[in-house]
Amino acid sequence: MNAGGQRTDTRGTPVRVTDLVKRFRSGDETIVGVDRITLDVPAGATVAVTGPSGSGKSTLLHLIGAIERADEGRIEVDDVEVTRLSGRRLAKYRNGIGFVFQRFHLLPALSALDNVLAPLVPTRPGFDEVERARNLLAEVGLAGRERAMPGQLSGGQQQRVAIARALVGRPRLLLADEPTGNLDSATGAGIIDLLWRLRDEHGMTLLMATHEASLADRCDRTVGVHDGRIV
Ligand SMILES: Nc1ncnc2c1ncn2[C@@H]1O[C@H](COP(=O)(O)OP(=O)(O)OP(=O)(O)O)[C@@H](O)[C@H]1O
Ligand SMILES: [Mg+2]
Repeated sequence: MNAGGQRTDTRGTPVRVTDLVKRFRSGDETIVGVDRITLDVPAGATVAVTGPSGSGKSTLLHLIGAIERADEGRIEVDDVEVTRLSGRRLAKYRNGIGFVFQRFHLLPALSALDNVLAPLVPTRPGFDEVERARNLLAEVGLAGRERAMPGQLSGGQQQRVAIARALVGRPRLLLADEPTGNLDSATGAGIIDLLWRLRDEHGMTLLMATHEASLADRCDRTVGVHDGRIV
């Protein structure tokens, strides 16, 4: 733990967000999704982002994961200024981040194993990578289900596959957008235990959007957002 009560673990990356702004245009209207957010996350910390629906939690995670581009402000992850990246360097950055979505986002026509391997394509996965994907599936409790298709798996199992997929690139930063939002509470609790076990093992920084107080309580720190601003 550092002075602020947040743990530090140099296997994770520090994340620094400064005056971040994201606007969406819909017709004549401009919606401000993220409105000058500044946030400093030490390496290896676990941070919960909470707030009502529409407050900007997903947008913030999408910006940090470079799924969407900021209009203003700066994001630094490790020594990389994400907001300045483009082309191949942006793709490389994205590949180094783990992202877990609320609705799993598995590819329905691919087996569990191929879904875990999907982020490694187009660099055709070698033997070691297939082995790593198998080991990750075992780690999330799905040994023996490598060939199952997403449609044959329960919601909790699909989210386990999605977590294995998020970890296949050895991320030092894991972004999770309401990872238990589509699961019943018992299944959700299992997923959270799993995330924490993996976090301890791999030492990642974990930034998570959640509505659930019990989940936020397990994090080193909770950041509340409202109308795109930190409250
Ligand atoms: N692609 C988009 N186009 C237009 N507006 C958007 C888009 N994405 C998000 N917004 C708007 O930005 C604001 C923040 O949305 P965001 O999805 O980040 O909220 P959230 O906190 O994740 O909500 P929830 O808890 O429901 O997931 C909302 O007003 C939303 O309507
Ligand atoms: Mg959201």
